[in-house]
Amino acid sequence: MNVIVITGGSRGIGASAALHCARRGMGVILTYNDNLAAAQGIVRRITEEGGKAVAQKLDVGAPATFSVFRDDVAQVLNDVWSQGVISGLVNNAGFGLYNPLSDVTEDQFDRLMNVHLKGPFFLTQALLPLMGDGASIVNLTSATTRVATAGVAPYAAFKGGLEVLTRYMAKEFGVRRIRANAVSPGAIRTELGGGLTSDFEALLASQTALGKVGEPDDVGRVIAMLLADEGQWINAQTIEVAGGYVI
Ligand SMILES: NC(=O)c1ccc[n+]([C@@H]2O[C@H](COP(=O)([O-])OP(=O)(O)OC[C@H]3O[C@@H](n4cnc5c(N)ncnc54)[C@H](OP(=O)(O)O)[C@@H]3O)[C@@H](O)[C@H]2O)c1
Repeated sequence: MNVIVITGGSRGIGASAALHCARRGMGVILTYNDNLAAAQGIVRRITEEGGKAVAQKLDVGAPATFSVFRDDVAQVLNDVWSQGVISGLVNNAGFGLYNPLSDVTEDQFDRLMNVHLKGPFFLTQALLPLMGDGASIVNLTSATTRVATAGVAPYAAFKGGLEVLTRYMAKEFGVRRIRANAVSPGAIRTELGGGLTSDFEALLASQTALGKVGEPDDVGRVIAMLLADEGQWINAQTIEVAGGYVI
């Protein structure tokens, strides 16, 4: 069975991706950082719909824990699915932080870097031995890599780094037919950075050709497509999923 690891699968885009993957018949190992109850809620929904999912705790900003996480994933794969490989990894977990470039502290910079760039790099490296040939990696980046948005400079810079890293993953893992793509959302209605105020949402909607902000499912189903057979010949791409943001 195709089993996918999705980081930050307890809420928002990751939770939607987990549900869409399960509806396509994939098994899901979804991770959470703090919110066990939300993660269990997504596992319950998948189970009620006839799918199979497991929630695992993981701090994506703590690479020293990744080898233990890999062992836990191997154990879960064996216990729940009686197999030893995963067929996909979604590096989705993240948080938002607004601060003008002039005021960003070294601590804020480091926390953003750890979760949005260093974490995906070393988590992918750690899980590589469990990835089957032909697996698919999806990295969540952001339309802020294309459209400069005041207050998110380090976040956008690390997402840009992740887009570059995506192409290197595709280059180096292609020998095993492992694909890597980035999905770059525009403004999506989630709890990221404390959620959207109504004024900010109106501004973002006015800058979007389709006249509104997106919903988690707008992105979740694209992620699931990239992990499924339809995505088999899509590789090394950044796919913006933003309704036509600032065009
Ligand atoms: N929403 C947008 O407008 C938007 C736009 C562009 C890009 N993105 C990107 O899309 C991804 C998902 O964002 P979202 O909007 O769905 O966010 P969200 O609703 O705030 O959910 C964030 C998820 O990431 C997890 N998480 C946060 N920090 C973590 C850490 N240190 N280690 C492990 N997990 C952690 C959370 O776990 P807990 O539930 O346990 O806290 C939660 O599952 C992020 O990479 C974000 O940068 C979002």
